[in-house]
Amino acid sequence: MSKKVYLKTWGCQMNVHDSEKMLGILKEEGYSQSDNPFHADLIILNTCSIREKAERKFYSELGRIKAYKNKRPDINIAVAGCIAQKEGRAIFKKASYVDFIFGPQNIHILKDFVSGTNLHISTEENPRIAETDLPVKRADSIKAWITIMYGCNNFCSYCIVPYTRGRERSRPSKNILSEAEELASKGYKEITLLGQNVNSYKYDTDFPGLLRKLNRVGGLERIRFITSHPKDLSDELIDAIFGLPKVCEHIHLPIQSGSDNILRLMRRGYTYADYIKKVSRLREKVPGIAITSDVITGFPGESHADHVLTLKAIKEIEFDGLFAFKFSKRPGTKTFDMEGCLNEKIKSERLSEILSIQDRITSRKNRLLEGTKQEIMIGGYSDTDKEKLTGRTRTNKIVNVPKFKIERGSLIIVEITKGKQHSLEAISLEK
Ligand code: 5AD
Ligand code: SF4
Repeated sequence: MSKKVYLKTWGCQMNVHDSEKMLGILKEEGYSQSDNPFHADLIILNTCSIREKAERKFYSELGRIKAYKNKRPDINIAVAGCIAQKEGRAIFKKASYVDFIFGPQNIHILKDFVSGTNLHISTEENPRIAETDLPVKRADSIKAWITIMYGCNNFCSYCIVPYTRGRERSRPSKNILSEAEELASKGYKEITLLGQNVNSYKYDTDFPGLLRKLNRVGGLERIRFITSHPKDLSDELIDAIFGLPKVCEHIHLPIQSGSDNILRLMRRGYTYADYIKKVSRLREKVPGIAITSDVITGFPGESHADHVLTLKAIKEIEFDGLFAFKFSKRPGTKTFDMEGCLNEKIKSERLSEILSIQDRITSRKNRLLEGTKQEIMIGGYSDTDKEKLTGRTRTNKIVNVPKFKIERGSLIIVEITKGKQHSLEAISLEK
């Protein structure tokens, strides 16, 4: 009987894809996945430390896990991801029943852990991981993630990522290309290129050059990428989004704040005017492009006037979607000792103001799509209504259509009949 792993993941797409790599390694070691921790021989918690809330969720799960270990002392328990990197041995002190700790730069060590040939902790800075291509067990058979670069050099003053994922390291384009070709040969239709700041990808070519190479991979229909840093968004990249047929018309471009004063304290490297210029250029050159963004509210020292500037920016730009977060103080970052921390009540009020303005914008933008024709890629049945198929437009909007017989991954043209808050209703023009 094969050994079983129960793996729980928190956080961003990067972490979700890291979990696919862990499962790839474990498959080669004879493990299969279980969704019941009681049936597992190995439990892995792949953690996120971007905000305090994510950390709290992990620690309460870690508390629950203790009961499994008490009942089945032979279970191995591993803590992976950014908390593992940041806390290191301290996790053994807090929870002595943990067996392995490994950070996001040391995923390959999992093989040694499970075969019993390694020590119990691996959180060293690893400048070579970019060259170590790991096996991947992918959750989907149509859409796939490909990591193109690891780490981040930006050191935004609030952010823990450069400390947990290390400095920027790009993968050679030939490795990325062969991964994309292999995926296409297995029937994958869409790839999403992953990196903390894909715009600064640099190996033997730059990011627009990489997109040009990937656009030539036969069988692939769509290429997406996340995340783009506004300061590194070049005209050449905008031309690539416009000119390369497989590159989808969607960009995730975190603005973080609409106030120059706060952007400076955040060390973002652009002003609101710079950001607006890039948005205008994107919209001029790529008509219909969807722009989504991230905002942090309640950064230390954020005055009411700064907050109003963020609201103004959101109204002016009209994002297609927005993730808004309350500022969370992260040990080790530049903001940790900063004065002017705001209380939770103010942060919550500002957050709900931001979200309600954005909700109105999203609904209005979705309603404006009524009557238009869109290409969608069929992803399967809708989770909430099995009578419907669901897919995404090139601009990454969710569309539901009445079900009919069609293969996953097919591209169809639909007419939008209703724009709702979080999705679009449509009819297929193909059946
Ligand atoms: N507090 C709140 N939000 C944060 N983010 C990153 N660090 C923090 C923090 N300390 C947000 C940013 C980033 C997104 C992935 O998470 O908006 O773009
Ligand atoms: Fe964090 Fe800034 Fe790097 Fe994004 S660009 S991962 S926010 S440091």
